[in-house]
Order: sequence, then C-alpha cells, then structure tokens
Amino acid sequence: MLIERRTRRDFLAGAAKAAVLGLSGTTVLSGVSAFATPPIEPPASAAEKLIPYGAAVRSDALASDLTYRAAMAANCQIIVPESELKWTELRPTRDQYRFEKADAILDFARLNGIDVRGHTLAWSGAMPAWTDAIATPVEAERELVDHIQTVVGRYRGAVQCWDVVNEPLAHWPEDDASFRPSIWASRLRGNYLPIALRATAAADPGARLVLNEYDLEFSGPRFMARRHALIRLLRTLRDRDVPLHAVGLQAHLFADRAIDRDGLQTLLAEIAKLKLDVLITQLDVIDYELPGKVSERDAQVASLAAGFLKTVCEVACPKAIVTWGLSDRYSWVPTYFKRPDGLPNRPLPLDADLRPKPLYDVIEEFRRKAA
Ligand code: G3I
Repeated sequence: MLIERRTRRDFLAGAAKAAVLGLSGTTVLSGVSAFATPPIEPPASAAEKLIPYGAAVRSDALASDLTYRAAMAANCQIIVPESELKWTELRPTRDQYRFEKADAILDFARLNGIDVRGHTLAWSGAMPAWTDAIATPVEAERELVDHIQTVVGRYRGAVQCWDVVNEPLAHWPEDDASFRPSIWASRLRGNYLPIALRATAAADPGARLVLNEYDLEFSGPRFMARRHALIRLLRTLRDRDVPLHAVGLQAHLFADRAIDRDGLQTLLAEIAKLKLDVLITQLDVIDYELPGKVSERDAQVASLAAGFLKTVCEVACPKAIVTWGLSDRYSWVPTYFKRPDGLPNRPLPLDADLRPKPLYDVIEEFRRKAA
C-alpha cells in the first residue's frame, strides 16, 4: 500500500511542482525496458498510512491540459487509463497494436511515482468491429491469450494491478450461466474467465488480478441477484484454482438507489472468506436527479458516497479508492446522464475548476479509516 504522498493542503503547492514534473516527461519510450525502470520514490511523508487514492485518467487531457495534469500528479497515488488500455484503443485492426496513448499515461505515472491500474483485458464493451469475426472457441482463446500476452507483457512491472475481467455478469443474472453477452462469453462461455486470468498471471506473475463489477451496492432484486451470482462465480473460480486476488466494486452511485447495507456487507464477508481483497475502482455519483443548487447537490453527492464508504469500511479495508475521473471537467457522466435542467454534472471530487468539493473531504476521511 502506498504511503500518502500529499495531503489536501499540499494540493495547490504540489500542482505547480507536478506540472514541471509532468512537463519534463518528454522521454520517448521505446518499449518494455522503458516501463521496467522503477518509478521515482515518492517523497517521505507523514507516518500515517492511508488507503491509496486514485482516479481514471485521459491521455488527451494529460497532453493538453496542464492544470489537470498537475492536479492528477498532486492528488493521485494511483491512475487508471479510462480508455487507453481497452481493445478499441489498442487494437484498431487484428494485426495492429497502438500503444502510444497508453504509453503516454505510463510515462506520466513513472515520472511522478504513481501506480497504474490496467483496465481492461476481457470485457463486452469497447471492442473493435473486427472481433465480431472471431468465429470459433479455438480462435477466441488464441486472440484473447495473444492480446493479454502482448499487452500485459509490455507493461510487466509497470501496471501493478489489472482489471482482467470487467463486468462478466449478466445485467440481471438468473443462473450460473448468466454471463454478460460478449464475444468471449459467446465463443468460450464461462471459460473465458479462467483463460484470461491464467494468461495474465503467466504474463506478469507480479500483477494483482482483479474481477471488476458494477451494480453490486444497492437495494433491490436485480442487485441482490448480481451479488449472489458474483459469489457463485468467485467460488467456481476458487474451486478451479483460477488465480485471482481481488474484487473491484465499481461503485457508480445513483441518487435514486439506496445502499443495501446488509446485502453489501454480506457480499464483502463472502469475498473475505475467499481470501480476496476489495478495491473501489470507479467511484462517482450520478447526480442528474439531484437538486440544481450546487451547495445542496455537492452535499448530497458527498452524503451518498459517505454512506457507501461507511458501509464498506465497517467490514472491509479497501486496498484502494479510485474515482472514475478526478475532476468534473472530464467525466463520462454527462454523456449518459445529462441533467434535465441543463446544468453541468458534478460527480467527482474536484469541480471543473479543480477545486475540492465535499466529496473530496469524504474520500479523505475514509482513507484515514485504514489507519
Ligand atoms: O478515442 C476516440 C476518439 O479518437 C474519437 O474521436 C471519439 C469520438 O468518436 O471517441 C473516442 O473514443 C471514446 C472513448 O471513450 C475515449 O474518449 C469512445 O467513443 C467512448 O465510447 C468511450 O467511452 C468510455 C466507455 O467506458 C466505453 O469504453 C468512457 O469514456 C468511459 O468512462 C467508460 O468507462 C466505463 C468503464 O470502462 C467500465 N465501467 C463503466 C464505465 C462508465 O461507462
């Protein structure tokens, strides 16, 4: 677990310094050796150990927006490429890999002593059209394993933790065969999970392997079905000796959904029984149904996140708290959940001007719970 490198008070002071660090990061990286070198040791910091905090990052914004780049460096102990390690970005054609965008993020992380999460190797989403032509189980296994060997091998030692499998469960699972429709599930059924996890473990034995899921947090029959299906899936993987280290709770929270305290804590207890860690991997609060007044909305966003984090931290110590973006300036939320009043969404810890919000304070508070 990373030691806290900066606190909120350092936020602004660190920003200028981080911008310089970031700007000096113009090294052109040629290949694996560039990522294998150890990052800068983070400066000594307070003895207090905190749950590491991080955020999803966008390579285009890192390249063009210096204040954002500085804020990422000043606040994050972990970053995760929001899209740059997905198949659509890496694999425009079957025979081509495009690593430039991901390399730029890995370079930024190395120069700033920040850990990197890899997202994601096997998912239903963000798949290039050519993969629809994958016709047989043999071909599917070959493509999946080749991809993992190439991508995980390139970032061996530089990406410490991979969302190997993202969202494997059906939206509303009915039985054990309820996998989310994907080329992998279609050609390999549930076997794609062991195939992907084993290939990742072989490509980088030092990487932490994560199964990442959404809609596990709330009250209601669909969410309960997802929690139960996840536990059955995790037990199956354990019974088949499939390598796995942690479960990622995406934690995209919604104002109109109550956190199922008993249901979530039962899930966390089962995960612990399986000797698996827990990470919070994509925390944000979808605020389109919250009041328009900023102070009210920010307070309710913070309160929703606090309720979720309290429920988790009462029974588990997440190995990381990662938000799906650092600043409202760059979030997926407006793409899918535009507010009817037309006001900008405010789902993340920093506002669009990179000012900390109540949600920032809530995350800081729960990071200290680990002590
Ligand atoms: O990179 C291209 C760019 O070249 C092109 O000009 C532009 C316009 O077409 O599209 C760009 O790609 C977009 C990509 O984000 C990078 O910005 C894709 O269209 C867009 O679909 C993609 O959306 C991402 C989505 O996953 C699908 O990959 C979101 O930003 C990202 O926040 C979202 O993240 C997901 C997690 O991976 C899984 N959990 C849910 C979460 C939110 O949906």
